[in-house]
Amino acid sequence: MSRLTDLIAQAKAKDPQMGADLDREFKVLSSRLPFGLNFERHRPEAVELPQRPIRKGDKVRVLPPRGSTGKGDSRLWQIMAIHRGAGGKVAELALLGGEATKTQTAQTQTVALVDLVVVAEFRDTIYPGLVSTGKVQRGGDKPFHTVINGENYHVLKALTYTHRGKVDAIYIDPPYNTGAKDWKYNNDYVEGDDLYRHSKWLAMMERRLLVAKELLNPANSVLIVTIDEKEYLRLGLLLEQVFPEARIQMVSSVINPASSSRAMAFSRSDEYIFFVFMGISGPVPVHLSADWYPKTGRDSRGKARWQELYRRGADGIRTKSPGCFYPVFIKEDGTEFVDVGGALPEYQHPSDVNIPEGLVASWPIRSDGTEGRWSMTPDKLRTAIAKGYVRIGNVGANGYGLTYLAIGEQKKVEDGSYPIVGYRADGSVITGEQELVELVPSTQWRIPSHDASAYGSQLLRAILPNRRFPFPKSLYAVEDALRFFVANRPDAIVLDFFTGSGTTAHAVMRLNRQDGGRRQCISVTNNEVAASEHEALRRKMLRPGDAEWEQHGICDYITKPRVKAAMTGRTPDGDPIKGDYKFTDEFPMAEGFEENAEFFTLTYETPVSVNHNRAFARIAPLLWLRAGSRGRRIDHLPEAGWEVVEAYGLLVNVDNSTPFIETIGQTQGLGVAFIVTDDDRRFQSIARQLPAGVEPVRLYESYLTNFSFANGEDWGDTEIQG
Ligand SMILES: C[S@@+](CC[C@H](N)C(=O)[O-])C[C@H]1O[C@@H](n2cnc3c(N)ncnc32)[C@H](O)[C@@H]1O
Repeated sequence: MSRLTDLIAQAKAKDPQMGADLDREFKVLSSRLPFGLNFERHRPEAVELPQRPIRKGDKVRVLPPRGSTGKGDSRLWQIMAIHRGAGGKVAELALLGGEATKTQTAQTQTVALVDLVVVAEFRDTIYPGLVSTGKVQRGGDKPFHTVINGENYHVLKALTYTHRGKVDAIYIDPPYNTGAKDWKYNNDYVEGDDLYRHSKWLAMMERRLLVAKELLNPANSVLIVTIDEKEYLRLGLLLEQVFPEARIQMVSSVINPASSSRAMAFSRSDEYIFFVFMGISGPVPVHLSADWYPKTGRDSRGKARWQELYRRGADGIRTKSPGCFYPVFIKEDGTEFVDVGGALPEYQHPSDVNIPEGLVASWPIRSDGTEGRWSMTPDKLRTAIAKGYVRIGNVGANGYGLTYLAIGEQKKVEDGSYPIVGYRADGSVITGEQELVELVPSTQWRIPSHDASAYGSQLLRAILPNRRFPFPKSLYAVEDALRFFVANRPDAIVLDFFTGSGTTAHAVMRLNRQDGGRRQCISVTNNEVAASEHEALRRKMLRPGDAEWEQHGICDYITKPRVKAAMTGRTPDGDPIKGDYKFTDEFPMAEGFEENAEFFTLTYETPVSVNHNRAFARIAPLLWLRAGSRGRRIDHLPEAGWEVVEAYGLLVNVDNSTPFIETIGQTQGLGVAFIVTDDDRRFQSIARQLPAGVEPVRLYESYLTNFSFANGEDWGDTEIQG
């Protein structure tokens, strides 16, 4: 149900006549929708937070009994009180949205705390934090890639503090809304027979794209979104609506060359990639691997192309160009051009021409025996032969076959693109390979390395043997899509907030290895378990939030282990990964990557946390992320009142600003100074004394209030709450 239908239902319960009137007006209105993309913005999305401790005032749902595979009660309740019961803590609940009416009292119930789960609606104020769950360091002082386990909407909101306008490229592969339980809305899988399937999907995507837009660098960045036939039309319109100022292109990309059959339709082998160009962004020419030229096996290192002198097609007949019908005299053994005859008068034919002893005449005769023509006049051919641009081929019924270099190719010889490395006996040039050319391809990609089965699923199986993840992208497909935008940006920040198995982070590591870049990837994904495992886990009496359930979640079971394995070159069992990377950069997967990565889980804090140290610990990673995710992190409030690390400094006691400012001045490459004070004048005064190039950022003393946001609320520096 949409928000509006929800409200109408509530109105009906209170005043049936008014409810019916409203309903009628709503139907009339919705049948007169204006042109464009219209969908109902569904009632606020809600996300269950199974690991969040339950407190008085929280919004909760009552979980179905352990072992049950049913849907459970979707209503929201508020905790009015918590007290001790005989078998453990219990909570007094009141139904939300179910206020008392004249005839009914508000619905209440008492439920054991263990049978409740906290729910955050997207309009609620959230206090996010990050907890580190591990790291891999092999990359010296390079910035860290980060993998964040969390609801992406909330993580995106948190990133508006750390990365507003700083992201260079976003690559996302959202759920395709296939109707086959590939995603959840309000904790329920969206199925094919759900009448609101499309508007739920659009509402979900729109909310996230609007926040993602705040992260993209408006002057020069790209959003890349993959999609298939189920939602590409709606997605295209949504992108136009959310990014009216951007230029948008769609590429058709074959990801399943074998194709999958569709009832009463063409079998499908491709999907689509939308590219949304912000500001001056656009694909830059890059070196493409040989794989982009599967038919010829050539890579973008071009070789001179010799083409037949004999003209094919409808224009290739003597009468179309009588001046191009003439003999070319060649030594009998095919080694040398001797002469080029003049064009034959209309009434003459090859049999009328005298062929000198020891020579063979080549004629432009078609395969059906009729008279054809050459591609150029005798004069032009003489010049081309003199320059070495015509070659003698094999002999046949009509003399020796001839090939030549067309004007474009001749120019490349003349400007040195194809270096001349020698001459054949017939005087034609032998050219070397052209230097690697950089190019931007067309919008049709039929690239074998983009096969999701071979280089997505099978590659992932080599990295994480015995673990399954549905439909990972081909590693090389993601690498190629990103290359056009980050090739010349070795410090690019790439974000994927539907990261699934972590292909994007893996692709960014490969791009770094190819040019020594220091790009960093932020990967966000939730920890839901695959629909197929859901019921099995429930039958095992498990629930989300149980350690055994969570360890099967995508982020913990697939994403983090995949990124770690790719970096170390070892599977989770410690075995060297079998096989080699292919295409642009070929090397054993067991070599891993010289990169750094840290793994986090998003937490939801309470605003009333009295313990400053604990509250600080949860936001410490956000400060480190804002300062570029490199070097050490200040995880605890410094006892000295200040601390300075490689990328940033933190001043918690403004009375100690002198040594703080001095040390900042001595630290090369430091970018941000966080200053904790509720006193605006002191903040301004310290900020003025900082060296140029160091950004002063103010934090309020109650740490968590620096990081609160609610749906629809902007969360930039200017709106920080005090
Ligand atoms: C189609 S998959 C992406 C696959 C990925 N491109 C790869 O190569 O592995 C989409 C992923 O987004 C995650 N996801 C869906 N909704 C999400 C949400 N609201 N917050 C965070 N992650 C979400 C799912 O867990 C799923 O793994």
